[in-house]
Amino acid sequence: MKKIISISNQKGGVGKTTTAINLATSLAAIKKNVLIIDADPQGNASTGLGLSHAHRKPTIYEMIHEKKILSEGIKDTLIPGLKIIGANTDLAAAELELTNFDNREFVFKSMFDKINNFDFIFVDCPPALGLLTINSLVASDTTLIPLQSEFFALEGLSALMQTIKLIQENYNKDLKIEGILLTMFDKRNSLSSLVEKDVRQHFGNQVYKTTIPRNVKISEAPSHGKPALVYDTHAAGSLAYIELAKELILNQNKRDE
Ligand SMILES: Nc1ncnc2c1ncn2[C@@H]1O[C@H](COP(=O)(O)OP(=O)(O)O)[C@@H](O)[C@H]1O
Ligand SMILES: [Mg+2]
Repeated sequence: MKKIISISNQKGGVGKTTTAINLATSLAAIKKNVLIIDADPQGNASTGLGLSHAHRKPTIYEMIHEKKILSEGIKDTLIPGLKIIGANTDLAAAELELTNFDNREFVFKSMFDKINNFDFIFVDCPPALGLLTINSLVASDTTLIPLQSEFFALEGLSALMQTIKLIQENYNKDLKIEGILLTMFDKRNSLSSLVEKDVRQHFGNQVYKTTIPRNVKISEAPSHGKPALVYDTHAAGSLAYIELAKELILNQNKRDE
């Protein structure tokens, strides 16, 4: 059974795309069939997986207009078992155009329902709570929320939680929180530990035990068009994403019991 996970947080720069790429890569490494859908007009997931601009179309933008997933839009990556639907700046127009659609919150859902052959689909959401993110959440089984381990981590989270509640009440009652992930964690910085304590107090076991360290290899990898896991398999950040994949699978097995 496929599982659709939106990586969401309306804040930019918190590690959504990094998590989408490296978690997807970790799962592909254990022979899962994984698809990343780049739903951010910035196209960072596409760039980070080495998808050149010339090879991005058709993106979700064209597919929205055709109201179906176009198989030629599903591209291979250098990782066996990991595919991607790319994005470019055209997608910014979709945010506006979607407002004119009937059932504008369900456009992604009707498209994603027809995708088969994948164990996991990750949707890399844009840094906004607009219709692209709402469509992603309506179409998803769960959402994974990265939080940067910094002072303002929790700020804005209540708006995201409210959006999730609104979606559960109106469009997708089965939407669950996959987990909250602390990213860019710096264990030498007492602030990171304070933020961690605070987040765990608020959200309890919804927070992953795994934290992702701030790691230079993670920030270098996208400019090489590679996941950190391929760029430097043994880097602390890469190993953390492997741990996260294990935890995600364990949680899933527990839920299925
Ligand atoms: N654990 C990390 N250590 C160091 N740099 C990171 C880490 N996670 C993300 N980054 C860097 O921080 C920036 C923002 O991350 P990104 O995943 O693009 O966030 P978002 O998708 O939420 O905007 C990127 O330049 C990325 O390479
Ligand atoms: Mg991003």
